[in-house]
Amino acid sequence: MMKNLGSLVSIFLLSMIISVSAQTYLITKTCNASTYKQLCVSTLELGPQKFQLTPKGQSLVVINSVKANATSIVKDIEIIVALIPLVEEPLSQCFKFYNEVVNDYIPKGVEALENDDPKTAIEIISKAAVGAYKCEKILISTGEKSADLLKGWKRIGGSGKNVYRLLVIALEILNMLV
Ligand SMILES: *[C@@H]1O[C@H](CO)[C@@H](O)[C@H](O)[C@H]1NC(C)=O
Ligand SMILES: *[C@@H]1O[C@H](CO)[C@@H](O)[C@H](O)[C@H]1NC(C)=O
Repeated sequence: MMKNLGSLVSIFLLSMIISVSAQTYLITKTCNASTYKQLCVSTLELGPQKFQLTPKGQSLVVINSVKANATSIVKDIEIIVALIPLVEEPLSQCFKFYNEVVNDYIPKGVEALENDDPKTAIEIISKAAVGAYKCEKILISTGEKSADLLKGWKRIGGSGKNVYRLLVIALEILNMLV
């Protein structure tokens, strides 16, 4: 009995070790050629295990991170604009854009993926990436122009960069599906 239990436990441990190293291998394999290799690895490691095993699951993990980052920028912009009304105008189009990322681009991209239509997902995520690239520049230039006023700026600029980079990573992974 004890012996059986022992071998059950070792089989369990062994299969855990195999699954952990398979994940590490699959993440390394996916991120190896990425433009943002480190961000790719650290983002995929955050995802639930079962999503780490396939490019489809991995792209969902990255897209989920995009959503979290964009949501946090929306909140940051709201706070900054409430404190410093002067920046409302330069930031208004990006406020709108990041809201669209959360409420429109992401849900539509996820839906396309879930319908096994990676081409449509790529179109949607590409549009979001173009917008994120522009908004990142606007966030940075507004930050530079109003540096004295914007004490909380670094945080916004920092997560703004991640939205674009994460979208690029999502596209790199989605391209493995077509
Ligand atoms: C990572 O990329 C290099 C070349 O850039 C290649 O030699 C290596 O085999 C790749 N590793 C994996 C795990 O795909
Ligand atoms: C933004 O994405 C990064 C990378 O995936 C993640 O570590 C971080 O928690 C995200 N930020 C927010 C505020 O969700």
